[in-house]
Amino acid sequence: MLSDEILSVVNVTHRYNEREIPALSDISFTLRKGEMLAVTGASGAGKSTLLKIAGTFLKPTAGDVKFEGGILPYALSQSRLQKFRREQIGFVEQDFALIDVLTAGENIMLAMQLEGCVNYRFLFDVTSHLGLDKCLDRYPYELSRGEQQRVAIARAVAKKPCLLIADEPTANLDRSNGEKVEELLWEINLRYGQTVIFATHDKSFADRATKRLTLSDGVAVLSTNRKANGR
Ligand SMILES: Nc1ncnc2c1ncn2[C@@H]1O[C@H](COP(=O)(O)OP(=O)(O)OP(=O)(O)O)[C@@H](O)[C@H]1O
Ligand SMILES: [Mg+2]
Repeated sequence: MLSDEILSVVNVTHRYNEREIPALSDISFTLRKGEMLAVTGASGAGKSTLLKIAGTFLKPTAGDVKFEGGILPYALSQSRLQKFRREQIGFVEQDFALIDVLTAGENIMLAMQLEGCVNYRFLFDVTSHLGLDKCLDRYPYELSRGEQQRVAIARAVAKKPCLLIADEPTANLDRSNGEKVEELLWEINLRYGQTVIFATHDKSFADRATKRLTLSDGVAVLSTNRKANGR
């Protein structure tokens, strides 16, 4: 790996339940610190599968995932892998995965506490940018899907991970809130040099990333976005 590469995905193939047709076939790409990668493709093309593999949640059937410093997450013991993931990865799942028994504010705080990086100023900035001020005392079931999505984004961002991965982070949002989420991702990318991978069906959102990986039935085409205008 080159010195500023933080992630390298090498010849990754994934088959669910030993299916004949793989969900992903021979995918390779690298990401340098501060890059933004948009993963696009039709429903079922393999976007979430790739994000889970890059996010260390799903071991690929074949191929390697390497992080900065030559770390091979899938070769680590379960407890080391969990620690690595907790410290290095912020993941916004397509179904949000909020903790039901904690309020929105507690969900976000917990992520900061686990990292030992409680920063009220940052928490206030992120949650007010995302229009969550009135939601912080409510439980996930008391929130709309769009509000849940924004809480999941705030939670992933709050711990300032080395790699932020967001699976269709604007999918449930109206235009105005979708734009706020986009702006937040660009802002943390610029301000903190945050490396980001996101999946999207939104062409204009994808156009703002520095790199694009387009999946079609598990096969990828990687391109550099010349007209990236997020920065
Ligand atoms: N847990 C699973 N078990 C078996 N097959 C799965 C599983 N998850 C996904 N698949 C299959 O793998 C393929 C890729 O799915 P994936 O969820 O990665 O697509 P996607 O591009 O994220 O789609 P969407 O845009 O609808 O979210 C699909 O054919 C899907 O049915
Ligand atoms: Mg998906």
